[in-house]
Amino acid sequence: MSNRDRTTVVILGAGKGGMAVLELLTHLPGVEIAGITDQSAAAPGLQYASQLGIPITQDLVSLISLQGINLIVNVTGDPHLDLLIATHKNPETEVLGGFASKVLWDFVQHASQIQSQLFQTEKLAGMGTFASGIAHDINNPLYILLAFAQNILEETDVSRIHEQTRSIMEAGKRIQGICQHITQYARSTNADNTTAVEVNDKLDEALNIARYATTLQDLSIVRRYGEHVEVFVNPGELFQVLVNLMTNAIHAMERKGTLTLSTCCENGVGKISIADTGSGIPTENLEKIFDPFFTTKPPGQGTGLGLHNVKAIIKKYRGELKVESEVGKGTTFTIELPRSSI
Ligand SMILES: Nc1ncnc2c1ncn2[C@@H]1O[C@H](COP(=O)(O)OP(=O)(O)OP(=O)(O)O)[C@@H](O)[C@H]1O
Ligand SMILES: [Mg+2]
Repeated sequence: MSNRDRTTVVILGAGKGGMAVLELLTHLPGVEIAGITDQSAAAPGLQYASQLGIPITQDLVSLISLQGINLIVNVTGDPHLDLLIATHKNPETEVLGGFASKVLWDFVQHASQIQSQLFQTEKLAGMGTFASGIAHDINNPLYILLAFAQNILEETDVSRIHEQTRSIMEAGKRIQGICQHITQYARSTNADNTTAVEVNDKLDEALNIARYATTLQDLSIVRRYGEHVEVFVNPGELFQVLVNLMTNAIHAMERKGTLTLSTCCENGVGKISIADTGSGIPTENLEKIFDPFFTTKPPGQGTGLGLHNVKAIIKKYRGELKVESEVGKGTTFTIELPRSSI
């Protein structure tokens, strides 16, 4: 890459604004962040930057006057800095501050709002995928419930009435359980709720939903769970990731096969893998599956947003997402996520 294609940036301010700008810029391939500063050593962006290997300094003046800096992004909102920057910066260095940095900050906020709307939209579209499976699962206990209610109407023996009422209650509870799964899935995720999450529990919860992806199924589920596998994420987002990967796996197996769920921890990283014995993904599609709207499903049956959202969520937590696949044999998706906060 020539120098013209590369922009070297320093960021002044590592509070919420600085953190958001840092997050945005680290994702841009042509941008190099030469350093970040904040007068408070506890500013969240500094911790984040150190995880990314970006130089941190308390020495504002030396950061501003670094050689080879193309752009200073000032998100401190401190008007006194303008003069300091003007005095110490290299003549060729440009400054983005004041209203311009406010607009940049607004843009970052807006983009993250759009992303979370995309997550929610895809989740609700997923309800369509699960609708017939859910209806099928509700229908069985409902049938039992109605049949026993009909019997009771004609029954005079009190002990038989009690027995049948118990069956009605059991069927009702099964329906109640299904409704709880659905509400859990449809609930919007609280964006700020990042915490240590037990992965094995989340896998089981996600399976409760993903199994509605098909009605008639002859699937074997194999669990290879490690002990106390924890990752530091938003539980709702992890839930969505797992539902998406399992739904894809179940669809790929066309109602027959083995779904293997494995977890373990290695070197401070929680590892989850979801393996299916389904159709596999042709090599030429492996690069495309994460693109938004890429789907091989018939029109109306997939948004093609599932894996795009999975990747965005994993990236947000500095995790890794890998896929291995062989046509006719199956596919394994592996996720690695940090076990503690960044
Ligand atoms: N486990 C898998 N086995 C085989 N193909 C897969 C698997 N997972 C994903 N794919 C392929 O990747 C494509 C994109 O997946 P993605 O989850 O993004 O969208 P989708 O499943 O098609 O739609 P939606 O997620 O909205 O239902 C799928 O259409 C399918 O071709
Ligand atoms: Mg999908």
